[in-house]
Amino acid sequence: MIVSKYRAKHFRNIKDLELFPDAGVNVIFGDNGQGKTNILESIWMFTGCHSFRTHKTVELIEKTQREAKVSLSFSAHGMENDAVLKIDQKREFMMNGAVKESPRRFLGEFQSVIFSPDSLSIVQDAPAERRRFLDIAVSMIRPAYSTHLLKYTKILANRNALLKQISLGGAEENYLDVWDEELAREGAHLTVYRLHYTESLARIASEIYKEISGGRESLYIEYQQSSRSVSAEEYELAESIFMGLQKNREADIRRQITSVGPHKDDLYISVDRLAARQFASQGQQRSGALALKLAEGYIIKETCGEYPVILLDDVMSELDGRRQSFLLEYLKNWQVFLTCCDASQVSRFKGCKTFHIEQGACIGE
Ligand SMILES: Nc1ncnc2c1ncn2[C@@H]1O[C@H](COP(=O)(O)OP(=O)(O)OP(=O)(O)O)[C@@H](O)[C@H]1O
Ligand SMILES: [Mg+2]
Repeated sequence: MIVSKYRAKHFRNIKDLELFPDAGVNVIFGDNGQGKTNILESIWMFTGCHSFRTHKTVELIEKTQREAKVSLSFSAHGMENDAVLKIDQKREFMMNGAVKESPRRFLGEFQSVIFSPDSLSIVQDAPAERRRFLDIAVSMIRPAYSTHLLKYTKILANRNALLKQISLGGAEENYLDVWDEELAREGAHLTVYRLHYTESLARIASEIYKEISGGRESLYIEYQQSSRSVSAEEYELAESIFMGLQKNREADIRRQITSVGPHKDDLYISVDRLAARQFASQGQQRSGALALKLAEGYIIKETCGEYPVILLDDVMSELDGRRQSFLLEYLKNWQVFLTCCDASQVSRFKGCKTFHIEQGACIGE
């Protein structure tokens, strides 16, 4: 997947910007607050996912304007494509002149992986960050997953609303039966996708981690279910989620919250057999996050047959020399957009195309 032309109008602080990127590494540099991340964010939007910075679409439009427009020309599977994203109150995608019914319909058309200092949260923060990572990664290669996820989220919201009603004495407890069944069925479906994905992720990320650490350390990843099922069979998964819901019903009513299901699952990550979140050093956590992100990219390439576009926001300065070299060597065949502030860093990226950004405009290449 190669972006050959990029244009943005009224996207955040970008008034009107046109770039012709290189098929290899593109270095976007400039001072703080000039619009470098904004460029990456606008490219990322073509994945069909929400922004990695906000869910509020209107924030993406330049203040004082009512509409933002971003266009990408990119090749994929030997075809040239023109994609347009219009943002007003909502997001609207067009691909080769045809309007997509919804942003979710754009999933899978353009694939990209973002790695930024925030990616550390996948290893470091609460389980919700790891679930979010999984949800985006799986949606990117299996767009149907996002439909199931939406369905599951609605069922969960309905069950939680009912729990509240019951706890306030406004509904019968047995009304929960139908939601428990639905939640278990849809939850099992999501779990199958996630288990399948984690299998590849664990294998590939641990191989990459081994290389990053020079063979000295090992990374281990496992999907952990809140229902504690040991099976990967869908009907058994559904059964165990259902049993978990029944078992925790009293407590769920008291707390007005559903305690079992994929929305409570986690991705367990360890380095040298110690839980990475609690015990790994900053450097190990950073390597872990990098390994996960590169594995995400690799899986897209393996599954879809196209290299995704890699977006590296402000990460080079956080990696030591050895890891920087590893990363650039690893991404040799990929199209990369990387941002940095320090103009002196730019000289390190020999042969790369550079874009000097100031106040949302390109003032030199
Ligand atoms: N909706 C908007 N309308 C106008 N300007 C905006 C909007 N949203 C953000 N900005 C401006 O965009 C700028 C930030 O851009 P961005 O985050 O891309 O900077 P950056 O070059 O990546 O900086 P840093 O090096 O600090 O990461 C800020 O000056 C901010 O005020
Ligand atoms: Mg930035």
